[in-house]
Amino acid sequence: MEAQVSYRFLVAVVLLGLHLLSDAAQIGNECSTDGDCGAGLHCDVCGSICTRVKPTDPKSVDKALPFNHYSWLTTHNSFALSGAKSDTGSILITPTNQIDSVTSQLQNGVRGLMLDMYDFQNDIWLCHSVGGNCYNFTAFQPAINVLKEIQTFLETNPSEVITIFIEDYVTSHQGLTKVFNASGLSKYWFPASAMPKNGGDWPLLSTMISNNQRLLVFTSKKNKEATEGIAYEWNYVVENQYGDAGLKAGRCPNRAESSPMDTRSKSLILMNYFPDNPNSTAACLENSAPLVSMLYTCHNLSGNRWANFIAVDFYKESNGGGAAQATDIANGHLVCGCDNIAYCKANSTFGTCKQPSVSTTLEPSASNQSAPSSASLTRKFSSYLFFTIVTFVLYLCR
Ligand SMILES: *[C@@H]1O[C@H](CO)[C@@H](O)[C@H](O)[C@H]1NC(C)=O
Ligand SMILES: *[C@@H]1O[C@H](CO)[C@@H](O)[C@H](O)[C@H]1NC(C)=O
Ligand SMILES: *[C@@H]1O[C@H](CO)[C@@H](O)[C@H](O)[C@H]1NC(C)=O
Ligand SMILES: *[C@@H]1O[C@H](CO)[C@@H](O)[C@H](O)[C@H]1NC(C)=O
Ligand SMILES: *[C@@H]1O[C@H](CO)[C@@H](O)[C@H](O)[C@H]1NC(C)=O
Ligand SMILES: *[C@@H]1O[C@H](CO)[C@@H](O)[C@H](O)[C@H]1NC(C)=O
Repeated sequence: MEAQVSYRFLVAVVLLGLHLLSDAAQIGNECSTDGDCGAGLHCDVCGSICTRVKPTDPKSVDKALPFNHYSWLTTHNSFALSGAKSDTGSILITPTNQIDSVTSQLQNGVRGLMLDMYDFQNDIWLCHSVGGNCYNFTAFQPAINVLKEIQTFLETNPSEVITIFIEDYVTSHQGLTKVFNASGLSKYWFPASAMPKNGGDWPLLSTMISNNQRLLVFTSKKNKEATEGIAYEWNYVVENQYGDAGLKAGRCPNRAESSPMDTRSKSLILMNYFPDNPNSTAACLENSAPLVSMLYTCHNLSGNRWANFIAVDFYKESNGGGAAQATDIANGHLVCGCDNIAYCKANSTFGTCKQPSVSTTLEPSASNQSAPSSASLTRKFSSYLFFTIVTFVLYLCR
């Protein structure tokens, strides 16, 4: 008798659990913890609603396209983690741009990392500073720590390709080469000599993977391509203006070091979209509809080419589909000629979409925050109803 009751209780708990699992909230639903949201979503600080974090992996649709036919979510100042303490022991007095570690970013589908590297304490450090000098209160940690995180990720994920953009203040002799060597990342190095020089296509992503040349490193120091074989970014990449000047709707000017955005002799396009002063609250709005809008603007002003790297602050923050959605949109256009990678059909000809392609329509991206409440209420009510029925059935079975 007692065994039977506990058996029924177990069944009820399992049923309830299954029901709650299948009931995980979708984008725009209210939440209080990540666990309240469905797979691939997290509970955002922007308004306690479920938002997208991880872009769709474009390789899952087609991995045999040239590397410049993909778009990758990129974090600006990937190392500048909110709440971090300096490895010098000092408190940090410097802005921060992200809320989780580089390992966590990589697990969430980030494939472009922007790292500021300085000579500091006889080593290379990740630092967020002014005037090219690093101080205890602006120094995050030795670069090798984060490079080793990247090494571990590449080791355990043999099909992933990562791009590092170095804001390079290193002047010590062979400083970058030494730290990359020491991190174990050199073996994944994609040689600068193999990068297309005149706007040609890159090697196929699948070839880069099978050759194990899965790390692209760009420096902001021109001479290092000749002295250390580290690709000078703006030989290969056009990049729009960063900071406030890059947030102006309808414009997509190049940053000073870059050729104009529509320069076809550079095959890769990097789109920055973040303000001068990182602002987690503002990122909720900026990483939503305005980001998608800028993606289209920059496409139009870059010779009708889609951004290969979409760089943001607080990549997890948004009021809706977020930076992940912007990446999915770019990949839809790049990989299969559709408005979103979700509309691509595997092994189909370019432009064959699951949904009709309306190329001029912007994707809805900022969800209406008043809508979630009623959805959320319905969800809670259905949980309550289900629980009541299970309890009643149990009662009848006694
Ligand atoms: C900076 O931190 C180091 C420890 O990493 C310490 O030895 C040094 O005294 C600190 N410098 C200043 C100016 O506080
Ligand atoms: C880095 O590693 C390569 C390959 O092992 C080696 O040839 C080179 O001398 C190393 N460079 C430095 C500066 O340590
Ligand atoms: C951050 O952005 C919010 C929303 O746009 C704004 O109200 C606030 O003043 C900004 N904070 C700073 C420090 O600029
Ligand atoms: C981009 O160009 C297309 C085609 O000319 C146009 O319809 C669309 O409105 C433009 N979008 C933006 C955001 O400039
Ligand atoms: C697409 O083609 C690849 C290689 O030809 C094949 O392995 C894969 O199963 C195909 N996928 C679908 C959904 O047909
Ligand atoms: C959200 O929806 C409500 C009701 O449909 C509407 O009044 C409101 O303007 C919408 N808000 C936004 C930001 O779209």
